[in-house]
Amino acid sequence: MLVLGIETSCDDTAVALYDEQAGVLIHELSSQAALHNLYGGVVPELASRDHVKHLLPLIEKSLRQKGLTVGTIDGIAYTSGPGLVGALMVGACLAKTLAYALGKPAIGLHHMESHLLVVGLLQQPPQFPYLALLVSGGHTLLVHVYDRGVYKIIGRTLDDAVGEAFDKVAKVLGLPYPGGPAVAALAKQGGGKRFHFPRPMANQANCNFSFSGLKTHVVHTVQRWGNDPSTLADIAAAFEEAAVDTLINKCILALSQTKLCSLVLVGGVAANAKLRERLSEIALPLGVSLYYPPSSWCTDNAIMVAYNGYLHLAAGKQDPDNAIVTKPRWSMESLEHF
Ligand code: KG4
Ligand code: ZN
Repeated sequence: MLVLGIETSCDDTAVALYDEQAGVLIHELSSQAALHNLYGGVVPELASRDHVKHLLPLIEKSLRQKGLTVGTIDGIAYTSGPGLVGALMVGACLAKTLAYALGKPAIGLHHMESHLLVVGLLQQPPQFPYLALLVSGGHTLLVHVYDRGVYKIIGRTLDDAVGEAFDKVAKVLGLPYPGGPAVAALAKQGGGKRFHFPRPMANQANCNFSFSGLKTHVVHTVQRWGNDPSTLADIAAAFEEAAVDTLINKCILALSQTKLCSLVLVGGVAANAKLRERLSEIALPLGVSLYYPPSSWCTDNAIMVAYNGYLHLAAGKQDPDNAIVTKPRWSMESLEHF
């Protein structure tokens, strides 16, 4: 079975082909970072327009590079939510139209589930059940993963997502969008000891997060002290330490509450080297196996969509009709076992 995956939920237009036998055949991505960087964050209308411009050429390019034609595709998977409604519409419209024209099934998928299930492509994938930390620009979730499609959210952010905090901190530090990689690079040049930022909700016995207070603390510190490059690097390092500490403390709490022995780290912020390193350090003494995908599978991509689409289609799932439906807000807990 050959599945075309389409990802357009935010600011990356991505296309991948996944083959049941051969695995990932190709992945093509057009980043809108430079476009949105001019405005310091994602401008939804510009995102939609850029997806319109790039999506079809990317599909054609992917097929051409593999010497394939649209007729060889057995099914089309696309992200139907959550995300920016206009951006999602572009992917959904093209996916459903193509599927209709080819007489092939289409499947609309949950973006965070695709982030999560991409670990199935690792050489040694985790076995269910496991705990997952899903960290991206829009979500910060601790999820008890019972099986495919069976998720219980045991912790979430009460305000900003951790990726959003990285992006906003980058902005006050004068760094480009997306902020995560830029803050991490600057943090490497600084020391985390000169400033100490709060670890929000650390003393609460639940698995929820809050990042807006931490972000405000950083803003005030930059305003008060941040007038030379080495101070800005120290602030970046202290912020990264605080954000990573906060995530790790809640992972430890969730592991002890659920008694799960496997921890999966996914989503754009999972590309953060400090977070990976610190989680690796705590996993061994806790007797927990840690799993995370390569960085390019952490940030938005279409490999995760094509693969999740393959899993759904192979299990006999497909969109019930030809209506074009997107779900900008959509809880993982409402998904079904497959
Ligand atoms: O999963 P993703 O690509 O898109 C969403 O679904 O939101 O995640 C994007 C987020 C952005 O906030 C970005 O700044 C953050 O992931 N990010 C990072 C790193 N790479 C990307 N945050 C910290 N460190 C990184 N290396
Ligand atoms: Zn994402």
